[in-house]
Amino acid sequence: MPEQLRLPGRLTAPSPGWTTRADVVIVGSGIAGLTAALRLRGRVDKILVVTKDVLNAGSTQWAQGGIAAALGPGDTPEQHEADTLVAGAGACDGAAVRVLVNEGPEAVRELIALGTNFDHTDDGELSLTREGGHHRDRIAHAGGDATGAEIQRALIAAIEAAPDIEVIQHALAVDLLLGPGDVDDSGTTGPPAVAGLTLHVIGEGERDGVGAVHCRAVVLASGGLGQVFSQTTNPAVTTGDGMALALRAGATLRDLEFVQFHPTVMYLGPDSRGQQPLISEAVRGEGAFLVDDEGDRIMQGVHELADLAPRDVVAKTIMKRMLETGRPHLWLDARHLGAEFWERRFPTILATARSHGIDPVTQLIPVAPACHYASGGVRTDLLGRTDVPGLYATGEVACSGVHGANRLASNSLLEGLVFSRRIAEVLPGELTPWREPAADRRTAGLVAGDIRRELQETMSSRVGVLRSAPGLAEAGVVLDKLAGHAAETVDQASWEATNLLTISAALADAAALRQETRGSHWREDFPERDDAHWAGHFDVTMDDGVTTVTFAPAPATDGGLS
Ligand code: SIN
Repeated sequence: MPEQLRLPGRLTAPSPGWTTRADVVIVGSGIAGLTAALRLRGRVDKILVVTKDVLNAGSTQWAQGGIAAALGPGDTPEQHEADTLVAGAGACDGAAVRVLVNEGPEAVRELIALGTNFDHTDDGELSLTREGGHHRDRIAHAGGDATGAEIQRALIAAIEAAPDIEVIQHALAVDLLLGPGDVDDSGTTGPPAVAGLTLHVIGEGERDGVGAVHCRAVVLASGGLGQVFSQTTNPAVTTGDGMALALRAGATLRDLEFVQFHPTVMYLGPDSRGQQPLISEAVRGEGAFLVDDEGDRIMQGVHELADLAPRDVVAKTIMKRMLETGRPHLWLDARHLGAEFWERRFPTILATARSHGIDPVTQLIPVAPACHYASGGVRTDLLGRTDVPGLYATGEVACSGVHGANRLASNSLLEGLVFSRRIAEVLPGELTPWREPAADRRTAGLVAGDIRRELQETMSSRVGVLRSAPGLAEAGVVLDKLAGHAAETVDQASWEATNLLTISAALADAAALRQETRGSHWREDFPERDDAHWAGHFDVTMDDGVTTVTFAPAPATDGGLS
């Protein structure tokens, strides 16, 4: 067991200077958050959406490839299920996957009815493409490669047409307020339950600075943890706030070690940090392929799907070749797609690549893996419930069990959509009476905002694509040191850094304990998948800043296929 760090049991923050009330607070404004808000409308009285930046600043906006669902001729939910389970490398929850694939088609049709303009073929059919790990064309896309932006646009338009849903932007969720647990028929008191949350709002009139929202339920839809690493496809807001807040409040984090590294992220040089340009897998779906400096196709002979193998297989093959050659990137060759096709099918990627001095029509694109998606997160049941009564989670912040050790391409938007609909079905009937927040006895703390760069570099170099016991131990030493770097000022940089540190520590612990290679978790010292010992999940819990990691065995869900 790795040595445990002492982390803040709650974030240091000024006492709330303002208060407000809502029945349900939704934290996050991507596909998961706004779907939950729209579906809860009319079922609960007062809905408040809070978002850390502006409504479209999260990851949904950046999704390129699309949204997967069995909508095409000959495709079925069972085939989608099979591909999802294989990609998940035995670590998916089979029931959750069945929910995803069975409810997915209707959920996507509903998104279309809401006004999302997906691309169509000349015959007027929904245009469906293929991405890594899919054996069928089942990825619906919009604006060529601007699927997320179109979905986000349609959802924001619907929210703006719903004046009864209140929105507070520039609002960082700091911590949950917890009240006494419910007492059951046998007189047993349950765990502390949601009574509200504290927010830090930048400049919303009277609601400025730290305030308290009293509420009966919170739906976390706050996205992932990409900023834990130096290079990521995720936007700046993805600092793991929702996962850290949930952990501090008593929720369980599951499968954190399964961080997906997207194989084809444009390489911008050794000093480039933060959000990097994604070159969608759909480019390979349309025929692009990976080559090394010699022009050799690296994916041929590695997997039956070659360049469209599941993402972990492609990322590992790229990394191996990079390590063999000492080169910082490989190349994606998509020149044969031609100018007209590039302009019509991938206008956003084309413009972005050109803005960085590469013309994909005539030049190879330099690519390397970068952090893309957290397959784990706050553990939920099939209805989005967490271990904290009144706290629900959906989308990338959640671990519903659909992704296992490696998310299948374009299943993420779908997960947010499907599980938010489910939460909206169940939550209204589960709302309990208002409860007063109890005195918060957790130990407050904060690390300095300026630890961020060292944290990210440590996580990228020691807990990134390729992991080993010595590297993970070194990461533990650095994280321990950073935990002692107390903040002198209470500000957003320190709150985010503390959340990043909290999630990094939990992730590194789980990665150290999983002594095998499975899906996106790649151990140099344990190169094989080991179902005899590690079929199951690492769960992380926290008690006043001290985390515990436990292993929950579960039978492999893919029949050993890989
Ligand atoms: C991509 O377009 O390659 C990303 C799709 C995804 O992450 O599902």
